[in-house]
Amino acid sequence: MPAAKKRVRKAVFPVAGLGTRFLPATKAVPKEMLTVVDRPVLQHVVDEAKAAGIEHFIFVTGRNKGVIEDHFDSQYELERTLAERGKKEALEILQRELPAAGQTSFTRQQAPLGLGHAVWCAREIVGDEPFALLLPDMLHHSESGCLSDMIAAYNGTGGNLIAVAPVPEDQTHQYGIVGVTDASAKVSRITAMVEKPKAGTAPSNLHISGRYILQPEIFALLEKQERGAGGEIQLTDSMIRLMDDGNQPFHAVRFDGSIYDCGSKIGFLMANVAYALAREELADSFRAEVKRLL
Ligand code: G1P
Repeated sequence: MPAAKKRVRKAVFPVAGLGTRFLPATKAVPKEMLTVVDRPVLQHVVDEAKAAGIEHFIFVTGRNKGVIEDHFDSQYELERTLAERGKKEALEILQRELPAAGQTSFTRQQAPLGLGHAVWCAREIVGDEPFALLLPDMLHHSESGCLSDMIAAYNGTGGNLIAVAPVPEDQTHQYGIVGVTDASAKVSRITAMVEKPKAGTAPSNLHISGRYILQPEIFALLEKQERGAGGEIQLTDSMIRLMDDGNQPFHAVRFDGSIYDCGSKIGFLMANVAYALAREELADSFRAEVKRLL
Protein backbone atom coordinates (compact mmCIF):
# COMPACT_ATOMS: atom_id res chain seq x y z
CA MET A 1 0.00 0.00 0.00
CA PRO A 2 1.49 3.36 -1.02
CA ALA A 3 2.45 5.64 1.86
CA ALA A 4 0.62 8.76 0.63
CA LYS A 5 -2.69 8.97 -1.19
CA LYS A 6 -1.94 9.90 -4.74
CA ARG A 7 -4.65 11.85 -6.51
CA VAL A 8 -6.82 9.94 -8.99
CA ARG A 9 -6.29 11.79 -12.28
CA LYS A 10 -6.85 9.15 -14.93
CA ALA A 11 -9.82 7.01 -15.87
CA VAL A 12 -9.98 3.91 -18.04
CA PHE A 13 -13.01 3.07 -20.18
CA PRO A 14 -13.04 -0.44 -21.66
CA VAL A 15 -14.95 -0.06 -24.94
CA ALA A 16 -13.83 -3.01 -27.02
CA GLY A 17 -16.95 -5.19 -26.55
CA LEU A 18 -18.87 -6.38 -29.61
CA GLY A 19 -22.38 -5.51 -28.47
CA THR A 20 -23.94 -8.63 -29.96
CA ARG A 21 -27.06 -8.15 -27.85
CA PHE A 22 -27.90 -5.04 -29.87
CA LEU A 23 -27.46 -6.36 -33.40
CA PRO A 24 -28.22 -5.14 -35.98
CA ALA A 25 -27.89 -1.66 -34.38
CA THR A 26 -24.28 -2.40 -33.45
CA LYS A 27 -23.20 -3.78 -36.82
CA ALA A 28 -21.55 -0.47 -37.80
CA VAL A 29 -22.11 1.61 -34.64
CA PRO A 30 -20.27 0.71 -31.41
CA LYS A 31 -22.69 -0.12 -28.60
CA GLU A 32 -21.12 2.63 -26.48
CA MET A 33 -22.29 5.16 -29.08
CA LEU A 34 -25.99 4.26 -28.84
CA THR A 35 -27.78 7.29 -27.48
CA VAL A 36 -29.51 7.84 -24.19
CA VAL A 37 -31.67 10.88 -25.00
CA ASP A 38 -29.20 12.95 -27.04
CA ARG A 39 -25.78 11.75 -25.89
CA PRO A 40 -23.95 8.50 -26.46
CA VAL A 41 -23.99 6.15 -23.46
CA LEU A 42 -20.22 6.60 -23.28
CA GLN A 43 -20.50 10.40 -23.11
CA HIS A 44 -22.71 10.09 -20.01
CA VAL A 45 -19.99 8.02 -18.32
CA VAL A 46 -17.19 10.36 -19.40
CA ASP A 47 -19.25 13.24 -17.97
CA GLU A 48 -19.47 11.37 -14.65
CA ALA A 49 -15.68 11.01 -14.63
CA LYS A 50 -15.16 14.65 -15.57
CA ALA A 51 -17.47 15.78 -12.76
CA ALA A 52 -15.33 13.72 -10.37
CA GLY A 53 -12.21 15.65 -11.38
CA ILE A 54 -10.68 13.17 -13.84
CA GLU A 55 -8.22 14.85 -16.19
CA HIS A 56 -7.16 12.08 -18.56
CA PHE A 57 -9.52 9.71 -20.36
CA ILE A 58 -8.13 6.39 -21.57
CA PHE A 59 -10.24 4.35 -23.97
CA VAL A 60 -9.44 0.69 -24.57
CA THR A 61 -11.02 0.19 -27.97
CA GLY A 62 -11.08 -2.52 -30.62
CA ARG A 63 -11.70 -2.91 -34.32
CA ASN A 64 -14.61 -0.90 -35.75
CA LYS A 65 -14.59 1.59 -32.88
CA GLY A 66 -13.08 4.49 -34.79
CA VAL A 67 -16.10 6.76 -34.32
CA ILE A 68 -15.42 6.82 -30.57
CA GLU A 69 -12.15 8.59 -31.30
CA ASP A 70 -13.93 10.97 -33.68
CA HIS A 71 -16.57 11.72 -31.07
CA PHE A 72 -13.96 13.06 -28.65
CA ASP A 73 -12.25 15.15 -31.32
CA SER A 74 -13.26 18.51 -32.78
CA GLN A 75 -15.38 18.48 -35.93
CA TYR A 76 -14.16 21.50 -37.81
CA GLU A 77 -16.60 21.46 -40.76
CA LEU A 78 -19.59 20.97 -38.49
CA GLU A 79 -18.47 23.73 -36.13
CA ARG A 80 -17.92 26.14 -39.01
CA THR A 81 -21.35 25.39 -40.46
CA LEU A 82 -23.00 25.88 -37.07
CA ALA A 83 -21.16 29.20 -36.64
CA GLU A 84 -22.18 30.38 -40.12
CA ARG A 85 -25.81 29.52 -39.42
CA GLY A 86 -25.78 31.25 -36.05
CA LYS A 87 -26.51 28.01 -34.12
CA LYS A 88 -24.78 29.34 -31.04
CA GLU A 89 -26.20 26.94 -28.49
CA ALA A 90 -25.30 23.77 -30.43
CA LEU A 91 -21.82 25.14 -31.11
CA GLU A 92 -21.35 26.05 -27.48
CA ILE A 93 -22.28 22.51 -26.36
CA LEU A 94 -19.77 20.95 -28.78
CA GLN A 95 -16.97 23.28 -27.72
CA ARG A 96 -17.66 23.03 -24.00
CA GLU A 97 -17.61 19.23 -24.04
CA LEU A 98 -14.52 18.77 -26.15
CA PRO A 99 -11.66 17.31 -24.09
CA ALA A 100 -8.55 19.51 -24.20
CA ALA A 101 -5.75 18.45 -26.53
CA GLY A 102 -3.78 15.62 -24.92
CA GLN A 103 -6.51 14.72 -22.44
CA THR A 104 -7.55 11.53 -24.26
CA SER A 105 -5.65 8.35 -25.08
CA PHE A 106 -6.74 5.40 -27.16
CA THR A 107 -5.28 1.94 -27.10
CA ARG A 108 -6.55 -1.34 -28.50
CA GLN A 109 -7.47 -4.63 -26.98
CA GLN A 110 -6.53 -6.86 -29.87
CA ALA A 111 -8.38 -9.97 -28.72
CA PRO A 112 -11.54 -10.31 -26.57
CA LEU A 113 -9.84 -12.00 -23.61
CA GLY A 114 -11.93 -10.42 -20.85
CA LEU A 115 -12.23 -7.33 -18.67
CA GLY A 116 -8.97 -8.04 -16.81
CA HIS A 117 -7.10 -8.14 -20.09
CA ALA A 118 -8.78 -4.92 -21.32
CA VAL A 119 -7.64 -3.09 -18.17
CA TRP A 120 -4.11 -4.51 -18.52
CA CYS A 121 -3.98 -3.03 -22.05
CA ALA A 122 -4.05 0.45 -20.43
CA ARG A 123 -1.03 -0.18 -18.16
CA GLU A 124 1.50 1.94 -20.06
CA ILE A 125 -0.83 4.93 -20.27
CA VAL A 126 -1.88 4.74 -16.62
CA GLY A 127 1.67 4.29 -15.35
CA ASP A 128 2.49 4.17 -11.65
CA GLU A 129 -0.54 5.90 -10.15
CA PRO A 130 -4.04 5.05 -8.95
CA PHE A 131 -6.76 5.20 -11.58
CA ALA A 132 -10.50 5.04 -11.96
CA LEU A 133 -12.17 2.38 -14.07
CA LEU A 134 -15.67 2.92 -15.41
CA LEU A 135 -17.61 0.24 -17.30
CA PRO A 136 -19.59 2.25 -19.85
CA ASP A 137 -22.52 -0.21 -20.08
CA MET A 138 -23.50 0.63 -16.52
CA LEU A 139 -25.08 4.07 -16.22
CA HIS A 140 -25.09 5.31 -12.63
CA HIS A 141 -27.69 8.03 -12.17
CA SER A 142 -27.55 10.17 -9.03
CA GLU A 143 -27.34 13.75 -7.86
CA SER A 144 -23.76 13.61 -6.58
CA GLY A 145 -22.30 11.17 -9.15
CA CYS A 146 -21.00 7.70 -8.34
CA LEU A 147 -17.33 8.36 -9.08
CA SER A 148 -17.44 11.65 -7.14
CA ASP A 149 -18.75 9.74 -4.10
CA MET A 150 -15.92 7.24 -4.54
CA ILE A 151 -13.22 9.90 -4.80
CA ALA A 152 -14.58 11.46 -1.59
CA ALA A 153 -14.36 8.04 0.11
CA TYR A 154 -10.88 7.45 -1.34
CA ASN A 155 -9.66 10.69 0.23
CA GLY A 156 -10.38 9.02 3.57
CA THR A 157 -9.50 5.37 2.96
CA GLY A 158 -6.89 5.39 0.19
CA GLY A 159 -6.24 1.98 -1.36
CA ASN A 160 -8.76 0.39 -3.70
CA LEU A 161 -12.49 1.06 -3.89
CA ILE A 162 -15.38 -0.63 -5.64
CA ALA A 163 -18.91 0.72 -6.07
CA VAL A 164 -21.53 -1.80 -4.99
CA ALA A 165 -25.31 -2.02 -4.89
CA PRO A 166 -27.72 -4.76 -3.81
CA VAL A 167 -29.24 -7.11 -6.40
CA PRO A 168 -31.94 -9.78 -5.93
CA GLU A 169 -30.46 -13.09 -4.70
CA ASP A 170 -31.39 -14.85 -7.95
CA GLN A 171 -29.18 -12.46 -9.93
CA THR A 172 -25.94 -12.71 -7.94
CA HIS A 173 -24.53 -15.31 -10.39
CA GLN A 174 -24.48 -12.64 -13.14
CA TYR A 175 -22.02 -10.30 -11.37
CA GLY A 176 -18.95 -9.93 -9.24
CA ILE A 177 -20.14 -10.07 -5.61
CA VAL A 178 -18.40 -8.75 -2.49
CA GLY A 179 -18.62 -9.56 1.19
CA VAL A 180 -18.19 -6.57 3.55
CA THR A 181 -17.80 -5.88 7.26
CA ASP A 182 -20.95 -3.72 7.41
CA ALA A 183 -23.45 -4.09 4.55
CA SER A 184 -25.50 -1.07 5.62
CA ALA A 185 -22.59 1.42 5.80
CA LYS A 186 -21.87 3.81 2.92
CA VAL A 187 -18.19 2.79 3.00
CA SER A 188 -17.19 -0.61 4.33
CA ARG A 189 -14.11 -2.83 4.25
CA ILE A 190 -14.33 -5.67 1.71
CA THR A 191 -13.61 -9.10 3.17
CA ALA A 192 -14.40 -11.32 0.19
CA MET A 193 -14.90 -11.09 -3.58
CA VAL A 194 -16.05 -13.62 -6.10
CA GLU A 195 -16.77 -13.35 -9.82
CA LYS A 196 -20.12 -14.81 -10.88
CA PRO A 197 -20.71 -17.10 -7.85
CA LYS A 198 -22.78 -20.22 -8.30
CA ALA A 199 -26.33 -20.02 -6.89
CA GLY A 200 -26.35 -20.13 -3.11
CA THR A 201 -22.62 -19.43 -2.67
CA ALA A 202 -22.51 -15.60 -2.87
CA PRO A 203 -20.97 -13.87 0.19
CA SER A 204 -23.76 -11.22 0.09
CA ASN A 205 -26.17 -9.62 -2.38
CA LEU A 206 -23.86 -6.65 -3.07
CA HIS A 207 -22.77 -6.65 -6.69
CA ILE A 208 -19.81 -4.90 -8.27
CA SER A 209 -21.61 -2.27 -10.30
CA GLY A 210 -18.88 -1.13 -12.68
CA ARG A 211 -16.99 1.70 -10.96
CA TYR A 212 -13.55 1.13 -9.41
CA ILE A 213 -10.57 3.03 -8.04
CA LEU A 214 -7.51 0.80 -8.30
CA GLN A 215 -3.86 0.97 -7.37
CA PRO A 216 -1.32 0.36 -10.16
CA GLU A 217 -0.04 -2.85 -8.50
CA ILE A 218 -3.07 -4.52 -10.14
CA PHE A 219 -1.26 -4.51 -13.51
CA ALA A 220 1.48 -6.94 -12.50
CA LEU A 221 -1.20 -9.35 -11.27
CA LEU A 222 -3.30 -8.96 -14.42
CA GLU A 223 -0.24 -9.79 -16.47
CA LYS A 224 -0.05 -13.22 -14.82
CA GLN A 225 -3.78 -13.76 -14.40
CA GLU A 226 -5.13 -17.05 -15.69
CA ARG A 227 -8.54 -17.33 -17.26
CA GLY A 228 -11.39 -17.54 -14.78
CA ALA A 229 -15.20 -17.46 -14.98
CA GLY A 230 -16.48 -17.78 -18.55
CA GLY A 231 -12.95 -18.62 -19.79
CA GLU A 232 -11.98 -14.92 -19.56
CA ILE A 233 -9.17 -13.07 -17.78
CA GLN A 234 -11.20 -11.63 -14.92
CA LEU A 235 -10.40 -8.37 -13.17
CA THR A 236 -12.06 -9.68 -10.02
CA ASP A 237 -9.56 -12.56 -9.77
CA SER A 238 -6.61 -10.13 -9.77
CA MET A 239 -8.37 -7.87 -7.26
CA ILE A 240 -8.74 -10.87 -4.95
CA ARG A 241 -4.99 -11.51 -5.19
CA LEU A 242 -4.18 -7.85 -4.60
CA MET A 243 -6.33 -7.94 -1.47
CA ASP A 244 -5.35 -11.37 -0.11
CA ASP A 245 -1.70 -11.77 -1.16
CA GLY A 246 -0.81 -8.10 -1.74
CA ASN A 247 -2.41 -7.02 1.55
CA GLN A 248 -3.96 -3.98 -0.08
CA PRO A 249 -7.17 -2.64 1.45
CA PHE A 250 -10.36 -2.74 -0.61
CA HIS A 251 -13.45 -0.77 0.39
CA ALA A 252 -16.96 -0.98 -0.98
CA VAL A 253 -18.82 2.27 -1.59
CA ARG A 254 -22.57 1.73 -1.64
CA PHE A 255 -24.20 3.49 -4.54
CA ASP A 256 -27.64 4.79 -3.63
CA GLY A 257 -28.80 6.11 -7.02
CA SER A 258 -30.26 4.17 -9.96
CA ILE A 259 -28.21 1.86 -12.16
CA TYR A 260 -29.16 1.10 -15.77
CA ASP A 261 -27.40 -1.79 -17.48
CA CYS A 262 -27.26 -0.47 -21.02
CA GLY A 263 -25.82 -3.79 -22.15
CA SER A 264 -29.36 -5.16 -21.89
CA LYS A 265 -32.31 -3.95 -23.95
CA ILE A 266 -34.58 -3.29 -20.98
CA GLY A 267 -31.82 -1.45 -19.09
CA PHE A 268 -31.06 0.67 -22.14
CA LEU A 269 -34.73 1.53 -22.71
CA MET A 270 -35.23 2.36 -19.02
CA ALA A 271 -32.15 4.60 -19.10
CA ASN A 272 -33.73 6.56 -21.93
CA VAL A 273 -36.96 6.96 -19.98
CA ALA A 274 -35.21 7.96 -16.74
CA TYR A 275 -32.76 10.38 -18.35
CA ALA A 276 -35.52 12.01 -20.41
CA LEU A 277 -37.68 12.47 -17.30
CA ALA A 278 -34.68 14.06 -15.55
CA ARG A 279 -34.38 16.71 -18.27
CA GLU A 280 -36.36 19.79 -17.36
CA GLU A 281 -37.12 20.83 -20.93
CA LEU A 282 -38.33 17.34 -21.92
CA ALA A 283 -39.93 15.93 -18.77
CA ASP A 284 -43.49 17.29 -19.03
CA SER A 285 -44.17 16.58 -22.68
CA PHE A 286 -42.36 13.22 -22.53
CA ARG A 287 -44.42 12.14 -19.51
CA ALA A 288 -47.63 13.13 -21.27
CA GLU A 289 -46.69 11.18 -24.42
CA VAL A 290 -45.73 8.06 -22.47
CA LYS A 291 -49.02 8.21 -20.55
CA ARG A 292 -50.91 8.45 -23.83
CA LEU A 293 -49.02 5.45 -25.17
CA LEU A 294 -49.77 3.35 -22.11
C1 G1P B 1 -18.12 -7.28 -15.22
C2 G1P B 1 -17.36 -7.62 -13.95
C3 G1P B 1 -18.33 -7.94 -12.80
C4 G1P B 1 -19.30 -6.79 -12.62
C5 G1P B 1 -19.99 -6.46 -13.94
C6 G1P B 1 -20.85 -5.20 -13.81
O1 G1P B 1 -18.80 -8.44 -15.66
O2 G1P B 1 -16.51 -8.71 -14.20
O3 G1P B 1 -17.62 -8.18 -11.63
O4 G1P B 1 -20.26 -7.12 -11.63
O5 G1P B 1 -19.05 -6.23 -14.99
O6 G1P B 1 -21.53 -4.97 -14.99
P1 G1P B 1 -19.39 -8.56 -17.16
O7 G1P B 1 -20.61 -7.70 -17.18
O8 G1P B 1 -18.33 -8.08 -18.08
O9 G1P B 1 -19.73 -10.00 -17.33
